Amino acid sequence: MNAAEKTASYTWAGRFSEPVSDLVKRYTASVMFDQRLWAQDIRGSLAHARMLARQGIISAADLADIERGMDAVRQEIEAGQFVWSLDLEDVHLNIEKRLTALVGDAGKRLHTGRSRNDQVATDIRLYVRDSIDAILDRLKTFQLALVALAEREAATPMPGFTHLQVAQPITFGHHMLAYFEMFARDRERFADCRKRANRLPLGAAALAGTTYPIDRESVAAELGFEGVCQNSLDAVSDRDFAIEFAACAALFMTHISRLSEELVLWMSPRVGFIQIADRFCTGSSIMPQKKNPDVPELARGKTGRVNGHLIALLTLMKSQPLAYNKDNQEDKEPLFDAIDTVLDTLAIFADMMGGITVKAEALRAALTQGFATATDLADYLVKKGLPFRDAHEAVGHAVKAAEQKSVDLSGLTLSELKAFSPLVAEDVFAVLTVEGSLAARNHTGGTAPEQVRAAIVRARERLETV
Ligand code: ARG
Repeated sequence: MNAAEKTASYTWAGRFSEPVSDLVKRYTASVMFDQRLWAQDIRGSLAHARMLARQGIISAADLADIERGMDAVRQEIEAGQFVWSLDLEDVHLNIEKRLTALVGDAGKRLHTGRSRNDQVATDIRLYVRDSIDAILDRLKTFQLALVALAEREAATPMPGFTHLQVAQPITFGHHMLAYFEMFARDRERFADCRKRANRLPLGAAALAGTTYPIDRESVAAELGFEGVCQNSLDAVSDRDFAIEFAACAALFMTHISRLSEELVLWMSPRVGFIQIADRFCTGSSIMPQKKNPDVPELARGKTGRVNGHLIALLTLMKSQPLAYNKDNQEDKEPLFDAIDTVLDTLAIFADMMGGITVKAEALRAALTQGFATATDLADYLVKKGLPFRDAHEAVGHAVKAAEQKSVDLSGLTLSELKAFSPLVAEDVFAVLTVEGSLAARNHTGGTAPEQVRAAIVRARERLETV
């Protein structure tokens, strides 16, 4: 092939007199990564073709050819027989060229009233929507695993921490439900993002709309979109939905990362609060005694990656003039990687949380080390009439004395406690116990086992309604 012949083989070759170099071809092509849009691309093309036929823009015979050809293309792709070509730049041109090879002129008519600009915007919106549906499903399974663990350990006492110092007794179930809430908000955010992603760009064509008598609303209805994009320039150039998705993903991963950090810490032999099932850990190639929490560590690490994708997409958009620019081709890899990371993380975490063994004795031992019921003693004195600040000071002295004696507050005798406040009586020991402290926080959102169980019932109900 001479240069002119080589140039002529491109879809857009008409006005060009020399071909691009191999490097430029590779640099500008996206088929290596956008071929995963194939199912959405075919769905969008079929809906477009049906509309063209309904509107009398193409003939019924052309539509029949297109439908038959697309079916063959789908089968080839599913069977792994489709030959993806870098020369054809992207998923859209690859599929269109193959369709045309299979059915002739009808394939060439498919692109009537359409541009790759509104085509790709449609494909990505469909892909994001499908991905969100899969994510919502997996989030639910993961949340159910959290609730099951919370239920198993609804009354298991552990220290609650602030500043990583023992603060007050809580239950393990209560701690798990804190994460349930974070992921419940993530579900809401993904579902909300879906609404704005779910608008049809097709019909915007390259940027200004098209001169054919199209019917955008019927295409939207066929593809399950909630409406059509209202401005053709915005339709082809907007990637807000991808940015929003990445923001949802980054926040979700941030929650996963916080949970992972705790799992890693709790699994350390120094802490020993939990055991993660062996299938989520790996050993060391040199230290035979090691069992490392690789899965939570990697999830913590992958959070950085997804946060990076959000920044990449924001930066991609920030200087783009209207309307479509090729910059937008760069939206795909960050988006796809964010989707893959979220989906894999969810699948693995749902399984992993179910396989956690909680070491109740270690949790209780940790509770007796940090004067966790000091606030309860202060509250006790306040209820007997002492102003809170005075009670705070009296308990501070009591803690110091207990520390010197190397006992917990409940290890001080009644007369020793009375020395810090004459208001102390025999009933003080009921509030100094862990069980008493827990049971006393008996209100919505509190850690009393009774409240944790009620929260679990509500959590399951909430999962059923969305
Ligand atoms: N591969 C392109 C993308 O991902 C498709 C749109 C190309 N449009 C164009 N006018 N070059 O954005």
